[in-house]
Amino acid sequence: MPSISTGIEFPQLSPLEICGLITAVLGLLYWRWRSNPLHSIPTVGPSLPILSYYGAWRYLRDAKGMLLEGCSKYEIFKIPLSDQWLVVVGGPKMNDELRKYPDETMSALEAHKYVLQTEYTLGTTHPDATAKKCIGGPLTRKLPQIMPEVVDEIAASFEDIVGGSKDEWVTVPALEAMTDIIARVTNRAFVGLPFCRDKTLIKTVVGFAKDVMKTKTILNMIPNFLKPIVGHRLPWTSAARRRMAAILGATVNERRRQMIEYGTEYEGKTDDYLTWVIEEDLKFRGKGDSIDGVMEVISASNFAAIHTSSMSMTHALYYLCAMPEYIEPLRKEAEEMIKVHGWTKAAVDGMWKADSFFKEALRLNPAAHLTLFRKAMKPIVFSNGTVIPTGTMVVATTTGTHLSENLYEDAAEFKPFRFSDVRSKGGDDALRQQFHTSSPDYIPFGHGKHACSGRWFAAAEVKAVMAYILLNYDVKLQEGGARPANVYVGPSIIANPWAKLMFRKRKSAHA
Ligand code: HEM
Repeated sequence: MPSISTGIEFPQLSPLEICGLITAVLGLLYWRWRSNPLHSIPTVGPSLPILSYYGAWRYLRDAKGMLLEGCSKYEIFKIPLSDQWLVVVGGPKMNDELRKYPDETMSALEAHKYVLQTEYTLGTTHPDATAKKCIGGPLTRKLPQIMPEVVDEIAASFEDIVGGSKDEWVTVPALEAMTDIIARVTNRAFVGLPFCRDKTLIKTVVGFAKDVMKTKTILNMIPNFLKPIVGHRLPWTSAARRRMAAILGATVNERRRQMIEYGTEYEGKTDDYLTWVIEEDLKFRGKGDSIDGVMEVISASNFAAIHTSSMSMTHALYYLCAMPEYIEPLRKEAEEMIKVHGWTKAAVDGMWKADSFFKEALRLNPAAHLTLFRKAMKPIVFSNGTVIPTGTMVVATTTGTHLSENLYEDAAEFKPFRFSDVRSKGGDDALRQQFHTSSPDYIPFGHGKHACSGRWFAAAEVKAVMAYILLNYDVKLQEGGARPANVYVGPSIIANPWAKLMFRKRKSAHA
């Protein structure tokens, strides 16, 4: 075979020189490893340079195993990502310490900037702050007024997406159908009729999560100095907002014009989420012509609301179909509550068994193994003496917390009425059992100041959807048998996206 000349001449090294070179390289790597400011925090997976990449690879495939291993051995530990270390606090005591740090010390905003690349995905006007204010404020307070609309949209979207008759079973892809239904119902509350039924709008808000993920995955792979150059050129999230603006723009512009002309109180002013967002955006950005800020808030709100709630809905339905013995008690409860209160917020509030069912499903299947993302803005010292240097990403683990036998008896088992059984006994602990209540032991909604501000809405919405199904349909898994397995990708927990559900209208349905 002819030899190929590269034109480069390598120096001839003696065996002694080669040994010296290898020792020098290993020494340098060892020195870098020792001088890592996180060196003293125990590691799950290999911590040596280069080998830690194996840990990052393992994390992609078995985050749950690594987190449970860490929690079984340490109060605080670190795991390697491909580009940095993640410090994880394990257990309720440390979860509580983490959530108590003020933003100046442990910043959620800065953490989200890294995790979601928010400046290039959700936008530059801090849409999360406005969404949080409008969702945690008026949307939650006015849930009793909003519920009839929510219920109306549940009925309409089931008719359009599931349909079916009393004589035949219809089959739908479970996660996809639940996502479309939740998107419609949520947008009935966010942007109202007729927009929540606009197919392009619904497709856009459902697809927005993928747009965010594509953008942030690319940006997480490139060095910081390139991010502003590349980030603003990645088209997906801004294209999605432009599509939304084409649909919502005329209404948003008209409501803004009225607010600018008549002030914040005027006759005929609408009292809904879109209006509250426009009002906040005016306060924040002044009276310019652009509706970009409003579109950023509406897309960010959808990003926070849709996939979290539709996963929660799908997990619960998978349990229900795999354990049909729970259909009757839940159906009976829904019938009783709706008979007494009608289709109202009071009715879903009274569905304690359904509340517990969802809470337990989310305990075992949170949206991710991790929550409470924070970035250390200055050095801090946890009560066990662990020192966290500035710039470190610190998180809590849902899975590590929720699967602890110290907190939950038979922690790995699905016991649907675990929480309602305690609640019905009354006493000090009763209120803590509600689905929306976060605590250091129950963190799928985060905990503390930055906990999910949509959890009251989410709880009411998914319970209303469940009650609607129980009262109007028989439901089963197409394949029958056990609950379809989750899909795990890195820290994400995804309800099985391939399983199908079958629905048949009940003879005695009462929508
Ligand atoms: C079962 C459904 C849901 C789950 C599991 C869930 C979970 C979460 C989690 C884990 C966080 C982050 C907490 C942290 O960083 O510590 C969060 C934040 C948030 N969620 Fe939810 N969420 C759900 C539904 C919703 C809905 C329906 C809405 C809107 C109506 C919503 C709006 C928000 C907002 C605005 C934030 C940001 C809060 C902040 O930055 O302070 N979520 N959610």
